[in-house]
Amino acid sequence: MINIAIFASGSGSNAENICRYFQNNEQIKIASIISNKKDAYVLKRAERFDIPFAFFSKTCFETTSHVIDYLKEKKIDFIVLAGFLLKVPDNILQAYPDMIINIHPALLPKFGGKGMYGDNVHRAVKEAGETESGITIHYVNENYDEGAVIFQAKCEVAQNDTSDSIAHKVHELEYKYFPKVIETVVKSQFQ
Ligand code: GRF
Repeated sequence: MINIAIFASGSGSNAENICRYFQNNEQIKIASIISNKKDAYVLKRAERFDIPFAFFSKTCFETTSHVIDYLKEKKIDFIVLAGFLLKVPDNILQAYPDMIINIHPALLPKFGGKGMYGDNVHRAVKEAGETESGITIHYVNENYDEGAVIFQAKCEVAQNDTSDSIAHKVHELEYKYFPKVIETVVKSQFQ
């Protein structure tokens, strides 16, 4: 069994969608959900799916080995960031080379970097007058949103779209593609 940990900071609708996708998978298991926010709704979703979950504070992530110790204890092979707002610390990056991927709700390299998350991204896309947006799934390195791109999918941004309606379109792409891309990447890494 290949064990995946999902890192998430917020609602976790992607995390839930991924958990549902892999529920009966015989090779890949969502073995834990980890958040840096104690009251993140994603932890409630983990509980509902009966998936082990854990909270580690920002300080804990940044200054201790607790997270890496936990990942080892849970025998985690691969990490998926789904709405995770902290930078992944070096000790975790080094322990999981090419084994951490993230989803970004825009077409990188546009609209990425520090502060570019959630609705900030969709507002920026709208304000820039873009005619398309989408999702980027990429490897994670030491800089926000800069690792090698694995997959992108696009949606149209019409003149009457708002940041909310763009967010909706982007979420639909995330739900459709993220689990499948995770499966493909994981299988290629471990075959
Ligand atoms: C998603 O749009 C994801 O691309 C971004 O953060 C959002 C998380 O949404 N990184 P949710 O918590 O999965 O609902």
